[in-house]
Amino acid sequence: MKHHTLKKAVIPVAGLGTRFLPATKSIPKEMLPIVDAPIIFYVIEEAVKAGIEDIIFITGRHKYPLEDFFDTSYELEDKLLKENKTELLQKIRSIKDMANIVSIRQKEAKGLGHAVYSAKPAVGNEPFAVLLGDEISVPAADGTTAMGKLKSAFEELGESVVGVIAVPKTEVSKYGIVSLTGELKKLRGGAVQKVNGVVEKPETSVAPSCFALPGRYTFTSEIFNILENQSAGVKGEIQLSDAMATLANRDLLWVMDLAGTRRYDAGDKLGFLKANIELGLEHPEIGEELRLYLKTLRL
Ligand code: UTP
Repeated sequence: MKHHTLKKAVIPVAGLGTRFLPATKSIPKEMLPIVDAPIIFYVIEEAVKAGIEDIIFITGRHKYPLEDFFDTSYELEDKLLKENKTELLQKIRSIKDMANIVSIRQKEAKGLGHAVYSAKPAVGNEPFAVLLGDEISVPAADGTTAMGKLKSAFEELGESVVGVIAVPKTEVSKYGIVSLTGELKKLRGGAVQKVNGVVEKPETSVAPSCFALPGRYTFTSEIFNILENQSAGVKGEIQLSDAMATLANRDLLWVMDLAGTRRYDAGDKLGFLKANIELGLEHPEIGEELRLYLKTLRL
């Protein structure tokens, strides 16, 4: 099953981050810190832990700090070396060795589907993963990660498998929502279910289920053929969910429930604060002090 091996991940980071203005006027939202590392670090760490080797950033103007973060930082490394801060130096140096990074510019933010399609020259006919650059997924208690689960399912099945999470009925209108056929397949790393439709941000009354797409996907290169001929959808953008709906119509799309993993929409103010508080509480250096501080707040 060698041809099913997933080595590449596309990380779209070309969005304008309007939900986080004015912070994102000159700083990419993916560079905002969660405790002491930028959002994008957590996303790449998840991909690399799952066995992804090549990262393809889909970037836009003002996004160069993302590339710099994964590059050598001569002055900083020199200073840490002179000050004998070996541990920190190792930490900083290891970031650039995490993965091979390629950047492709999406010249206009024409939607997530368009961003994914822009990766075609770097991906070719290979299968690939997509991780949204502003979504953080924390591993489950047993150490399994969202991308690890999806990659394993994809490699066993050889068909596109995307992650879903169950959301409250009142929140379906914030997400892409899938409709399921009821067909279930048990794989080594868990079960997958066949999809027969995808709707972008439906009203509660018409939502086909409560299973939402939180930004972790694996695709065969078939998705490029679909995106190439697809017209603009909601908001006049080329939507990835429309391309997934076409895959589902062709009987080629599965979902895996990512229950157990924890996700934060860190591109949203509240999601960002929740991630900082919860990951801060788990941080070995500041966790205990933060817990004590939070207790002093009379909420
Ligand atoms: P979002 O809708 O969350 O990103 O897209 P956004 O447009 O930056 O944010 P808001 O809504 O204005 O605050 C999900 C992901 O897709 C990328 C974004 O960078 C984000 O990681 N994206 C979106 C692109 O790369 N290109 C696009 O044209 C649209």
